[in-house]
Amino acid sequence: MKDILSAPFVVEMGKTTANMYRLGWDERNGGNISYLLHEEEVAAYLDIHKVLREIPTGFNALPLAGRYFIVTGTGKYFKNVEGDPATNLGVIRIKEDGATAQLLWGFQGGGKFTSEFPAHMMSHMARLAADPENRVVMHTHPTHLLAMTYVHDLDESKMTHTLWEMCTECIVVFPDGVGVLPWMLCGTNAIGEATAEKMKDFRVVVWAQHGVYGAGKTLDETFGLIETVEKAAQIYMLTAHLPRLNTIKDEDMLKLVELFGIKKYRRDFLHLDQ
Ligand code: 13P
Ligand code: ZN
Repeated sequence: MKDILSAPFVVEMGKTTANMYRLGWDERNGGNISYLLHEEEVAAYLDIHKVLREIPTGFNALPLAGRYFIVTGTGKYFKNVEGDPATNLGVIRIKEDGATAQLLWGFQGGGKFTSEFPAHMMSHMARLAADPENRVVMHTHPTHLLAMTYVHDLDESKMTHTLWEMCTECIVVFPDGVGVLPWMLCGTNAIGEATAEKMKDFRVVVWAQHGVYGAGKTLDETFGLIETVEKAAQIYMLTAHLPRLNTIKDEDMLKLVELFGIKKYRRDFLHLDQ
Protein backbone atom coordinates (compact mmCIF):
# COMPACT_ATOMS: atom_id res chain seq x y z
CA MET A 1 0.00 0.00 0.00
CA LYS A 2 1.27 3.46 -0.93
CA ASP A 3 1.99 6.20 1.63
CA ILE A 4 -1.10 8.38 1.95
CA LEU A 5 1.02 11.46 2.57
CA SER A 6 2.08 11.15 -1.07
CA ALA A 7 -1.51 10.78 -2.33
CA PRO A 8 -2.32 13.54 -4.87
CA PHE A 9 -5.54 14.36 -2.99
CA VAL A 10 -3.63 14.95 0.28
CA VAL A 11 -0.86 16.94 -1.41
CA GLU A 12 -3.36 19.05 -3.32
CA MET A 13 -5.44 19.78 -0.22
CA GLY A 14 -2.26 21.01 1.48
CA LYS A 15 -1.29 23.23 -1.44
CA THR A 16 -4.81 24.65 -1.87
CA THR A 17 -5.33 25.49 1.80
CA ALA A 18 -1.86 27.10 2.01
CA ASN A 19 -2.63 29.15 -1.06
CA MET A 20 -5.96 30.31 0.35
CA TYR A 21 -4.33 31.16 3.67
CA ARG A 22 -1.71 33.27 1.92
CA LEU A 23 -4.45 35.21 0.13
CA GLY A 24 -5.79 36.21 3.54
CA TRP A 25 -9.09 34.45 3.06
CA ASP A 26 -8.71 31.92 5.86
CA GLU A 27 -7.75 33.58 9.10
CA ARG A 28 -7.37 31.29 12.10
CA ASN A 29 -9.64 28.26 11.47
CA GLY A 30 -11.75 30.08 8.86
CA GLY A 31 -12.76 28.03 5.84
CA ASN A 32 -13.26 24.35 5.14
CA ILE A 33 -13.05 22.02 2.13
CA SER A 34 -14.56 18.67 1.26
CA TYR A 35 -13.41 16.67 -1.76
CA LEU A 36 -15.21 13.58 -3.02
CA LEU A 37 -12.83 10.66 -3.64
CA HIS A 38 -13.36 7.54 -5.70
CA GLU A 39 -13.05 4.24 -3.84
CA GLU A 40 -10.10 3.14 -6.03
CA GLU A 41 -8.23 6.33 -5.18
CA VAL A 42 -8.66 5.72 -1.45
CA ALA A 43 -8.00 1.95 -1.63
CA ALA A 44 -4.57 2.57 -3.15
CA TYR A 45 -3.52 4.22 0.13
CA LEU A 46 -5.78 2.88 2.89
CA ASP A 47 -7.40 -0.35 4.03
CA ILE A 48 -10.99 0.70 3.39
CA HIS A 49 -12.26 -2.02 5.76
CA LYS A 50 -10.43 -0.51 8.71
CA VAL A 51 -12.64 2.09 10.37
CA LEU A 52 -10.78 4.07 13.05
CA ARG A 53 -13.81 5.81 14.54
CA GLU A 54 -17.46 6.40 13.80
CA ILE A 55 -18.74 9.97 14.14
CA PRO A 56 -22.47 10.79 14.05
CA THR A 57 -23.24 13.67 11.69
CA GLY A 58 -26.62 14.84 13.01
CA PHE A 59 -28.27 14.89 9.59
CA ASN A 60 -29.21 12.50 6.85
CA ALA A 61 -27.06 12.19 3.74
CA LEU A 62 -28.39 8.87 2.47
CA PRO A 63 -27.67 9.62 -1.21
CA LEU A 64 -23.98 9.85 -0.22
CA ALA A 65 -23.87 6.49 1.60
CA GLY A 66 -20.69 4.64 0.63
CA ARG A 67 -19.03 7.80 -0.76
CA TYR A 68 -15.58 8.87 0.41
CA PHE A 69 -14.41 12.41 1.19
CA ILE A 70 -11.26 14.10 2.35
CA VAL A 71 -12.37 16.92 4.66
CA THR A 72 -10.70 19.65 6.70
CA GLY A 73 -11.06 19.37 10.47
CA THR A 74 -13.05 21.67 12.72
CA GLY A 75 -10.99 24.30 14.48
CA LYS A 76 -7.99 23.54 12.26
CA TYR A 77 -5.99 26.30 10.60
CA PHE A 78 -5.53 26.30 6.82
CA LYS A 79 -1.98 27.54 7.36
CA ASN A 80 -1.13 24.27 9.14
CA VAL A 81 -2.66 21.70 6.76
CA GLU A 82 0.32 21.31 4.43
CA GLY A 83 2.76 20.74 7.31
CA ASP A 84 0.58 18.28 9.24
CA PRO A 85 -2.10 16.71 7.03
CA ALA A 86 -2.83 13.80 9.40
CA THR A 87 -3.99 16.15 12.17
CA ASN A 88 -5.79 18.73 10.06
CA LEU A 89 -7.47 16.49 7.47
CA GLY A 90 -9.53 13.31 7.58
CA VAL A 91 -10.69 10.72 5.08
CA ILE A 92 -14.20 9.61 5.86
CA ARG A 93 -16.87 7.40 4.30
CA ILE A 94 -20.59 7.99 4.81
CA LYS A 95 -22.06 4.84 6.39
CA GLU A 96 -25.08 2.98 4.98
CA ASP A 97 -27.34 4.76 7.49
CA GLY A 98 -26.46 8.09 5.82
CA ALA A 99 -26.01 9.70 9.25
CA THR A 100 -22.58 8.47 10.39
CA ALA A 101 -19.10 9.33 9.14
CA GLN A 102 -16.60 6.47 9.29
CA LEU A 103 -13.10 7.81 9.83
CA LEU A 104 -10.51 5.91 7.77
CA TRP A 105 -7.54 8.22 8.22
CA GLY A 106 -6.53 11.52 9.83
CA PHE A 107 -8.03 13.81 12.49
CA GLN A 108 -5.18 12.62 14.67
CA GLY A 109 -5.48 13.62 18.31
CA GLY A 110 -9.24 13.21 18.43
CA GLY A 111 -10.31 15.81 15.86
CA LYS A 112 -13.38 15.67 13.67
CA PHE A 113 -14.70 17.08 10.42
CA THR A 114 -15.57 20.75 10.00
CA SER A 115 -18.54 22.23 11.84
CA GLU A 116 -19.87 23.10 8.37
CA PHE A 117 -20.19 19.41 7.49
CA PRO A 118 -23.99 19.79 6.97
CA ALA A 119 -23.50 22.56 4.37
CA HIS A 120 -20.77 20.54 2.68
CA MET A 121 -22.60 17.22 2.42
CA MET A 122 -25.94 18.82 1.55
CA SER A 123 -24.21 20.92 -1.13
CA HIS A 124 -22.52 17.80 -2.55
CA MET A 125 -25.93 16.16 -2.84
CA ALA A 126 -27.38 19.20 -4.62
CA ARG A 127 -24.43 19.66 -6.98
CA LEU A 128 -24.13 15.95 -7.83
CA ALA A 129 -27.79 16.00 -8.86
CA ALA A 130 -27.00 18.96 -11.17
CA ASP A 131 -23.58 17.70 -12.32
CA PRO A 132 -22.47 14.09 -11.64
CA GLU A 133 -18.84 15.20 -12.04
CA ASN A 134 -18.93 17.66 -9.14
CA ARG A 135 -16.38 16.68 -6.49
CA VAL A 136 -15.43 19.74 -4.47
CA VAL A 137 -17.23 22.02 -2.03
CA MET A 138 -15.11 24.89 -0.71
CA HIS A 139 -15.97 27.44 1.97
CA THR A 140 -13.78 30.46 2.65
CA HIS A 141 -13.87 34.07 3.87
CA PRO A 142 -12.56 36.17 0.94
CA THR A 143 -11.92 39.71 2.16
CA HIS A 144 -13.45 41.87 -0.55
CA LEU A 145 -16.48 39.69 -1.17
CA LEU A 146 -17.18 39.74 2.54
CA ALA A 147 -16.79 43.55 2.57
CA MET A 148 -19.14 43.84 -0.39
CA THR A 149 -21.94 42.13 1.54
CA TYR A 150 -21.91 45.07 3.99
CA VAL A 151 -22.46 47.75 1.35
CA HIS A 152 -24.19 46.13 -1.62
CA ASP A 153 -27.81 45.07 -2.05
CA LEU A 154 -27.98 41.32 -1.33
CA ASP A 155 -30.45 40.65 -4.13
CA GLU A 156 -28.74 37.92 -6.19
CA SER A 157 -29.64 39.42 -9.55
CA LYS A 158 -28.21 42.81 -8.54
CA MET A 159 -25.15 41.30 -6.88
CA THR A 160 -24.40 39.06 -9.86
CA HIS A 161 -24.82 41.96 -12.27
CA THR A 162 -22.41 44.14 -10.30
CA LEU A 163 -19.83 41.34 -10.16
CA TRP A 164 -20.17 40.61 -13.89
CA GLU A 165 -19.46 44.31 -14.59
CA MET A 166 -16.18 44.23 -12.67
CA CYS A 167 -13.98 42.00 -14.87
CA THR A 168 -14.43 41.11 -18.51
CA GLU A 169 -14.38 37.35 -18.01
CA CYS A 170 -16.68 37.19 -14.99
CA ILE A 171 -19.77 36.26 -16.99
CA VAL A 172 -17.72 33.55 -18.69
CA VAL A 173 -16.43 32.05 -15.42
CA PHE A 174 -19.72 32.19 -13.50
CA PRO A 175 -22.48 32.51 -16.10
CA ASP A 176 -24.87 30.96 -13.56
CA GLY A 177 -24.27 33.99 -11.30
CA VAL A 178 -24.05 33.96 -7.53
CA GLY A 179 -26.69 32.85 -5.05
CA VAL A 180 -26.91 34.91 -1.87
CA LEU A 181 -28.04 34.00 1.62
CA PRO A 182 -28.70 36.59 4.33
CA TRP A 183 -26.68 36.28 7.53
CA MET A 184 -27.56 33.00 9.21
CA LEU A 185 -26.13 31.06 12.11
CA CYS A 186 -23.20 29.05 10.75
CA GLY A 187 -22.49 25.38 11.41
CA THR A 188 -26.18 24.46 11.54
CA ASN A 189 -28.31 22.08 9.51
CA ALA A 190 -30.52 25.09 8.64
CA ILE A 191 -27.71 26.99 6.88
CA GLY A 192 -26.72 23.71 5.24
CA GLU A 193 -30.20 23.20 3.86
CA ALA A 194 -30.43 26.83 2.66
CA THR A 195 -27.01 26.57 0.98
CA ALA A 196 -27.89 23.31 -0.74
CA GLU A 197 -31.16 24.81 -2.00
CA LYS A 198 -29.14 27.60 -3.65
CA MET A 199 -26.60 25.07 -4.96
CA LYS A 200 -29.34 23.59 -7.15
CA ASP A 201 -28.96 26.70 -9.33
CA PHE A 202 -25.61 28.24 -8.43
CA ARG A 203 -22.04 26.98 -8.03
CA VAL A 204 -21.28 30.04 -5.89
CA VAL A 205 -23.31 30.88 -2.79
CA VAL A 206 -22.44 34.02 -0.85
CA TRP A 207 -23.04 33.95 2.89
CA ALA A 208 -23.66 37.60 3.80
CA GLN A 209 -21.27 38.96 6.45
CA HIS A 210 -19.50 35.60 6.57
CA GLY A 211 -17.99 34.26 3.35
CA VAL A 212 -18.71 32.12 0.34
CA TYR A 213 -19.27 28.55 -0.83
CA GLY A 214 -18.06 27.32 -4.19
CA ALA A 215 -18.50 23.97 -5.92
CA GLY A 216 -16.70 22.35 -8.83
CA LYS A 217 -15.13 19.31 -10.45
CA THR A 218 -11.61 19.87 -9.12
CA LEU A 219 -9.90 21.83 -6.37
CA ASP A 220 -8.30 24.05 -9.02
CA GLU A 221 -11.56 24.79 -10.79
CA THR A 222 -13.40 25.56 -7.54
CA PHE A 223 -10.58 27.74 -6.28
CA GLY A 224 -10.51 29.57 -9.63
CA LEU A 225 -14.24 30.18 -9.43
CA ILE A 226 -14.04 31.77 -5.98
CA GLU A 227 -10.86 33.62 -6.96
CA THR A 228 -12.67 35.23 -9.89
CA VAL A 229 -15.67 36.28 -7.78
CA GLU A 230 -13.31 37.68 -5.15
CA LYS A 231 -11.33 39.60 -7.79
CA ALA A 232 -14.57 41.16 -9.05
CA ALA A 233 -15.56 42.08 -5.49
CA GLN A 234 -12.13 43.65 -5.01
CA ILE A 235 -12.56 45.86 -8.09
CA TYR A 236 -16.00 46.79 -6.78
CA MET A 237 -14.67 47.74 -3.34
CA LEU A 238 -11.84 49.75 -4.95
CA THR A 239 -14.28 51.75 -7.05
CA ALA A 240 -17.63 51.79 -5.23
CA HIS A 241 -16.95 55.16 -3.57
CA LEU A 242 -15.69 56.80 -6.78
CA PRO A 243 -17.71 58.21 -9.67
CA ARG A 244 -18.00 55.47 -12.28
CA LEU A 245 -17.13 56.83 -15.70
CA ASN A 246 -16.91 53.57 -17.61
CA THR A 247 -18.26 50.05 -17.31
CA ILE A 248 -18.77 46.79 -19.17
CA LYS A 249 -22.16 47.10 -20.82
CA ASP A 250 -24.80 44.41 -20.93
CA GLU A 251 -24.52 44.16 -24.72
CA ASP A 252 -20.76 43.54 -24.25
CA MET A 253 -21.57 40.70 -21.87
CA LEU A 254 -23.80 39.21 -24.56
CA LYS A 255 -20.88 39.34 -27.01
CA LEU A 256 -18.73 37.54 -24.44
CA VAL A 257 -21.13 34.64 -23.88
CA GLU A 258 -21.44 34.31 -27.64
CA LEU A 259 -17.65 34.35 -28.17
CA PHE A 260 -17.09 31.70 -25.49
CA GLY A 261 -20.03 29.61 -26.70
CA ILE A 262 -21.84 29.73 -23.36
CA LYS A 263 -25.31 28.33 -23.82
CA LYS A 264 -26.53 28.49 -20.25
CA TYR A 265 -26.28 31.79 -18.46
CA ARG A 266 -28.57 33.97 -16.35
CA ARG A 267 -29.87 36.15 -19.16
CA ASP A 268 -32.58 37.29 -16.74
CA PHE A 269 -29.82 38.96 -14.66
CA LEU A 270 -28.89 41.23 -17.57
CA HIS A 271 -30.70 44.53 -18.13
CA LEU A 272 -31.37 44.12 -21.80
CA ASP A 273 -34.78 45.72 -22.14
CA GLN A 274 -34.08 48.88 -20.19
P1 13P B 1 -14.49 24.94 11.14
O1 13P B 1 -13.21 25.25 11.85
O2 13P B 1 -15.44 24.12 11.96
O3 13P B 1 -14.23 24.34 9.77
O4 13P B 1 -15.26 26.31 10.90
C1 13P B 1 -14.66 27.36 10.20
C2 13P B 1 -15.66 28.22 9.50
O5 13P B 1 -15.30 28.90 8.56
C3 13P B 1 -17.06 28.24 9.98
O6 13P B 1 -17.90 28.83 9.03
ZN1 ZN C 1 -16.84 30.26 7.75
